[in-house]
Amino acid sequence: MKIAVVGATGMVGREILKVLEERQVEISELIPVASERSVGKAIEFNGKPFKVVSMEDAIAMKPNIALFSAGGDTSKKWAPEFAKVGTVVIDNSSAWRMDENIPLVVPEINADVITLEDKIIANPNCSTIQLVLALSPLHTAYGLNRVVVSTYQSISGTGVKAVRQMENERNGKTGEMAYPYAIDQNCLPHCDAFLENGYTKEEMKLVNETRKILRDGTIGITATAVRVPVKGGHSESVNVRFNEDYTLTEVRQLLHNTEGLVLQDNTDTNTYPMPLYAHGKDEVFVGRLRRDDSDVNTLNMWIVADNLRKGAATNAVQIAQYWISKFGSVKQ
Ligand code: A2P
Repeated sequence: MKIAVVGATGMVGREILKVLEERQVEISELIPVASERSVGKAIEFNGKPFKVVSMEDAIAMKPNIALFSAGGDTSKKWAPEFAKVGTVVIDNSSAWRMDENIPLVVPEINADVITLEDKIIANPNCSTIQLVLALSPLHTAYGLNRVVVSTYQSISGTGVKAVRQMENERNGKTGEMAYPYAIDQNCLPHCDAFLENGYTKEEMKLVNETRKILRDGTIGITATAVRVPVKGGHSESVNVRFNEDYTLTEVRQLLHNTEGLVLQDNTDTNTYPMPLYAHGKDEVFVGRLRRDDSDVNTLNMWIVADNLRKGAATNAVQIAQYWISKFGSVKQ
C-alpha cells in the first residue's frame, strides 16, 4: 500500500501519521505532501525521516490511498487529480461531504456504503462524528424524532493559529488572531462562518451530515456551536426526543454495546466524560444520561471526544483500514 498524507505538516496531518503508526497500517511507501513552502522538509514516521513532496510529485507516484487534510479549496482542486490516477482519496475537509455521489463515512455506522468505484470518500466533521456514534444505536432502537445539540468545541479544531492565539493570551503576548475576539476566559458562539439563515456553517454541518450518515432526512436537528478555551476535545450537550419510549437501563446497555463508544455514567462517583480525559484517545465518551421530563420519550446526554483523533485522524485511518481489508487485494 502506497499511502500519501496530504497536509502532513498540519495539525490533523500529524495526527494521521501518529494513528497510522499506532495502528501499524502496512505501508510499502509513505508519501507526505504539503504546500510548496514545506517541500523538501523532513517529517518523521516510524522513527525514519521522510521528505515532504509536492502535489504533482505525489500524483506521479500513484498512491493507492491519499489521506487529505489540507483544507477545502485544496481538496476541491486536487482530490479529483489523485482520483484520475486511481488513488482513493479519504478527505477530511467539508468540500465533498454533501455531494450525493460521495460516501460520508463513520466506519462503525455505515462503512457498507463504500464501493470499489468510489474514488473520493468524505470524513465527516469532528462534532458530527462523535454525535452520530452515540445517536446511531438509539436511532435504530427508538427512531430519532428531534435532536437539540449544543457544542463546546476545542480551539485545536480551528488549527495551529488558534492554539497560538490562546497561548499568546495566556502568556500576556499579542499576536496573530484566529478569532475576532479573545478566546481565553471566553466562549464564542461562533464556529466557522455565518450563513444567511443566521446559523454557522459548523451548525449546519451537524444538521446535514447527521441526516446523511444516519440515512434519514426526516430527523429534526438544531444546533448551537460554541468555541471554548479548551486545548483538545469537543463536548456536546444533546437533547433527543425519540419516536418510541425508552428506559435508561436499556439506553445504557445499547451505548455500552456500541463499538467505539465508552459509557462514563455514574454520578455517585462523579464519573462523566471530560475533554481532559478524552484527549489522545480514539473512543467517544458518553454520560450524564437522564430523562427529560419536560417532554415525551426524551433523553439528555453529554458526549465528548478528541476532535483530532476520532473527530478527524482516527476516523480517516479507520476508513483506510476498512478499504484495505475490503478492496486492498483487488487488482485496480
Ligand atoms: P504547510 O505546512 O506547507 O502550509 P493546518 O490546518 O493545521 O494549518 O494544516 C494545513 C495543512 O495543509 C498543512 O500541512 C499545509 O502545508 C497543507 N496545505 C495548505 N495548503 C496546501 C496546498 N495548497 N497544497 C498542499 N498542502 C497544503
